[in-house]
Amino acid sequence: MKSTAPRFYRLDSQYSTFFVDATGTGVPACRYWGPRLGPDADPECLSLLHQLARVPSGLDQPVRLSLFPTLGFGFWGHAAFEGNRRETHWAHEFQLTHIEYRDNHLSISLEDPIAKLALSLEFVMDTTTNVLKSRTRLTNRGDNAFDLRWCAAACLPLPAVRMELLVFQGAWTQEFQIQRILFPNTCWVRKNRRGRTSHDSFPGLMVGTHGFGADSGDLYAFHLGWSGNHHLLAESLKEGERQIQLGELLMPGEVILSPGESYTSPWAYACFARGGTNAVSRQLHQFVRQRILPTQVAKKTRKVMFNTWEAIYFDHDPAVLNLMAVKAADLGIELFVLDDGWFSQRSDDASALGDWDPDSQKYPEGLSTLIKRVQSLGMDFGLWLEPEMVNPDSNLYRRHPDWVLQLQDRPLPLARNQLVLDLSQAPVTAYLFDTLDRLLRRYPITYIKWDMNRDLCAAGHQGRAAYRRQTLAHYDLIDRLRAAHPGVEIETCASGGARVDYEILRRTERVWTSDCNDAFERHAIQQGFTLFFPPEIMGTHVGPAISHTSGRRLSLNFRAHTAFLGHFGIECDLRELDDNQLAELKTHIANHKQWRDLLRRGTYVRLTPADENRLAYGLVGPDRNRAIYLIVQLAKAKPNTSNLIRLSGLDPKQHYRLKLMRPLDPSVEKYLTNRKAWVETGLVANGQSLQEAGFALRLQFPETSVLLQVERE
Ligand code: DGJ
Repeated sequence: MKSTAPRFYRLDSQYSTFFVDATGTGVPACRYWGPRLGPDADPECLSLLHQLARVPSGLDQPVRLSLFPTLGFGFWGHAAFEGNRRETHWAHEFQLTHIEYRDNHLSISLEDPIAKLALSLEFVMDTTTNVLKSRTRLTNRGDNAFDLRWCAAACLPLPAVRMELLVFQGAWTQEFQIQRILFPNTCWVRKNRRGRTSHDSFPGLMVGTHGFGADSGDLYAFHLGWSGNHHLLAESLKEGERQIQLGELLMPGEVILSPGESYTSPWAYACFARGGTNAVSRQLHQFVRQRILPTQVAKKTRKVMFNTWEAIYFDHDPAVLNLMAVKAADLGIELFVLDDGWFSQRSDDASALGDWDPDSQKYPEGLSTLIKRVQSLGMDFGLWLEPEMVNPDSNLYRRHPDWVLQLQDRPLPLARNQLVLDLSQAPVTAYLFDTLDRLLRRYPITYIKWDMNRDLCAAGHQGRAAYRRQTLAHYDLIDRLRAAHPGVEIETCASGGARVDYEILRRTERVWTSDCNDAFERHAIQQGFTLFFPPEIMGTHVGPAISHTSGRRLSLNFRAHTAFLGHFGIECDLRELDDNQLAELKTHIANHKQWRDLLRRGTYVRLTPADENRLAYGLVGPDRNRAIYLIVQLAKAKPNTSNLIRLSGLDPKQHYRLKLMRPLDPSVEKYLTNRKAWVETGLVANGQSLQEAGFALRLQFPETSVLLQVERE
């Protein structure tokens, strides 16, 4: 339907309604976004009910929050847009020119005839998964340059009820740490300037009704699909309205639009759900599965992998690798990933990035011998690369010192002894494409771990800030490589999980979630990660007995359980495991293979144990015939707390057999009442009683866990 007549539009999904009021001459506004309204909902009435009261000492005609509030004419909050033409046209007022609506897709065209700018706002509601995506496009219609400083990808309203924010903090080996704070009376702002999504400021947040839980509360989730700099804000406005804005953070002078040029923002994603974090994650996971990830993730089994990093680091000895491959194959590993250290002169992290030829000392015949051995053992071969980086101590840098991001006559700060290649330069990307393409043609590599181990600073291209260009050129490089080698899977890694978002996931199949292989710390990371991302892309490895990043010692059972409900891998020196441990690990891998189909299709369910030192979550199959839950005792149970667990996600009308998966931690087995039933015969119970009454299960020791397998009778 096309129309220029002022009117109301509604975007509906199964669960929600987003009402847009375009009755005025300016920027339309969202007058309702929440649970789906019936067909009789009266948009005019909704709009009228939300008229702003005139505030004393305010404008005679208060300015309401729109879908793109601007600066200069009485909107007192953060504007969705900032920019100017030399010293003028810093204040803007857009007029509605055209609206197009078709199948839950709304395109709003506007212009500011004085500032000579055209704007288009796009909203698409995904009917089945309930995710609303939006983006903005700004065009300079003037005859001189327009300096763009901020252009939100989305500016969305929230109901003014008592709410809490769920935001993320983090650091290396501590990504996706959840923080809950009251919705601010003023403004909460997050600006990420690291040139990647970062360890500390993941571009996503949730807003929920006060006290929301795993199954309770109304939640709104927001995410920016962009792997560079970002800007998020949550603001309470004086007039009682609330806004969330998400967009790309632009550096001064980074986007200067010449006459006729446009800027298109990244996509922002938003989702409303009633029913706590489980409901919102269910919708986001389905959306990522159906609309974001390359299709092969859904089609292919998630192969169990071995990664060499924490096993050998840079110490690549073909005899040791051969032994490791034999042991890995015997354990049931299906993909062998050769991490950093395989290329020429790479004996530590100080040199050689950029020179992507196998080291002739370590690999006299190239990688072929190792790859053939790996394949003959029935495994696929994967390779680590860090294409965007270069060490000053490398042949590439010696040949092309001008190929790095830099600002003339300014310092070039190193991080991990490396610099960043300037992907805006055509010869740089041509070199990278040819090098990677040659490797993929020469060797039967089915998997790339694409790493990126530093933040961007002094990120200049011919004097201008180049974060945006770098991000776009990086996407382009991967896209070209994927088109040339469609069968090769790519893992996104940036010193762990510092580059993860819905845009990079359009072109990658797995995330290296964190360099933290400490299973205890991992739980917090994985809890945060799975809020926005489904478990099948969450790389999670069984690390060494004593964690290399924390010094903590944990049992093999606990480490294997922690990796069980994600994309499972092993990352430790297999020579350190005795026969009993190898046998135990083999059983865990075999068990994982029996249940891993739930990863791609299952529903992720968080449980709420009475004991706050416990954590419990699971995966329930699409037809609710099978489910698997992990119950973790992180610290000793608080005195006088019940060890009750209620299982949600099952069919209340069905009967299920529950069994604890073997191998069990000896301490768990020791304190088990009714051991025979829990471990051998299984216990049969009805879904409703499991949900409403639950069951008691004691885990006496801290840092122990059990996997509970549940199958319909
Ligand atoms: C950082 C990654 O996160 C690690 O897993 C490993 O690949 C190293 N880089 C290699 O340098």
